[in-house]
Amino acid sequence: MNYAQAEKKLIKWNQEHLLKYYDELDKESQLRLLQSISDADFSCLKAKESEHDEKKEKKYSPLQAMTLEEIDAMKEQFEKTGLEAIKDGKVGAVLLAGGMGTRLGSDGPKGVYDIGETKPVYIFQRLIENTLEVVEKAGSMIPFFIMTSDVNHDTTVAFFEEHEYFGYDKSYVYFFKQEMAPASDYDGKVFLEEKDKLASSPNGNGGWFTSMMKAGLDTIMAKRGLEWLNVFAVDNVLQRIADPVFVGAVIEKEVEVGSKVVAKAAPDEKVGVMCLEDNKPSIVEYYELTPEMMNEVGADGKPAYNYGVILNYLFQVEALYDVMEKKLPLHVVEKKIPYINENGEKVLPESPNGYKYEQLVLDMIHEMKNCLPFEVERNKEFAPIKNKTGIDSVESARALLKENGFEL
Ligand code: UTP
Repeated sequence: MNYAQAEKKLIKWNQEHLLKYYDELDKESQLRLLQSISDADFSCLKAKESEHDEKKEKKYSPLQAMTLEEIDAMKEQFEKTGLEAIKDGKVGAVLLAGGMGTRLGSDGPKGVYDIGETKPVYIFQRLIENTLEVVEKAGSMIPFFIMTSDVNHDTTVAFFEEHEYFGYDKSYVYFFKQEMAPASDYDGKVFLEEKDKLASSPNGNGGWFTSMMKAGLDTIMAKRGLEWLNVFAVDNVLQRIADPVFVGAVIEKEVEVGSKVVAKAAPDEKVGVMCLEDNKPSIVEYYELTPEMMNEVGADGKPAYNYGVILNYLFQVEALYDVMEKKLPLHVVEKKIPYINENGEKVLPESPNGYKYEQLVLDMIHEMKNCLPFEVERNKEFAPIKNKTGIDSVESARALLKENGFEL
């Protein structure tokens, strides 16, 4: 893209300010800036304007989960079915590790964070070791896909190399990068991160399947005969990956997706809750739950909207191809975005100063015909690390790991 083409694109999107420093850049930096403008997809900036238009009345109703008791009664049967699918090579794992982990506030990718006390215990290591338990039980490898972003790809790959994949057969590990989206101020003006580079950030975890396809991994999936993908977040160090009981239950119930859920700790807990929205599976955000919904009681005497998601889903691959055709909604998220100010100086803000634009994996659930919410014990499978201290932190995860017999 040359200067004139860049200028034309920027005028269309009201972003001419991005060329402010062009004339003072050397040739190489000018080319870098033009490339950065050429790569940018500004269409996400419209998300904020259309946010209100899209707020049509949604009709929610409860979606019953398969409870711990029900799962326990069928455990052997589900496990057998799940292990067979894994042995037949039908199940893959997808680790979503493209996020910035800003709340944790460590440099590098979240997965390289060491939560050990007397010895190193890295987050990535915990996830690999959990998966290896199933690999050993099934006697079969599980292809392990890792989504990274421009920001953390090289460090992530180097870390796995340095630690020899924590004993995982590296020929079954596939890295792929997610897309980036521009980041803007509150008026929708994209920031310059450097004088020759637009500010951008990973475009959320909802584009994972499209990014996998773009990376050409459909050939690997076809070659390996994958029919199910277990997608999970990097930060839950207690989660079961490719859990055979979960896999078996989802296969036997013949649904397009299964979602691990935990019973809410309190009716007003801030988690997304499984439900039906216009009769299709969905996740209602905590801030969308009305007091009536919060206090509604089901036939079993439990709260009707009782099951929070923990970002661990099992998707049928065939159904995922159909979702790719659909456009997932964009979420506008307030974040701290480093930028070049009007004096040409770099600013690292201490509080949120603008918007990032993200698609979320939870919106994919609504595109599926049916979903099995599958209850798991919170204290055994949910130890997310979002913050350094307090709720969902390194501290709380360490305590839960110890409670479950892990040495740190
Ligand atoms: P979070 O919502 O916790 O976001 O991601 P984050 O970026 O990691 O952390 P904060 O909000 O800045 O503190 C949930 C999961 O989705 C992944 C994360 O890596 C994590 O596993 N994710 C998030 C992506 O893979 N890409 C993204 O663009 C965002």
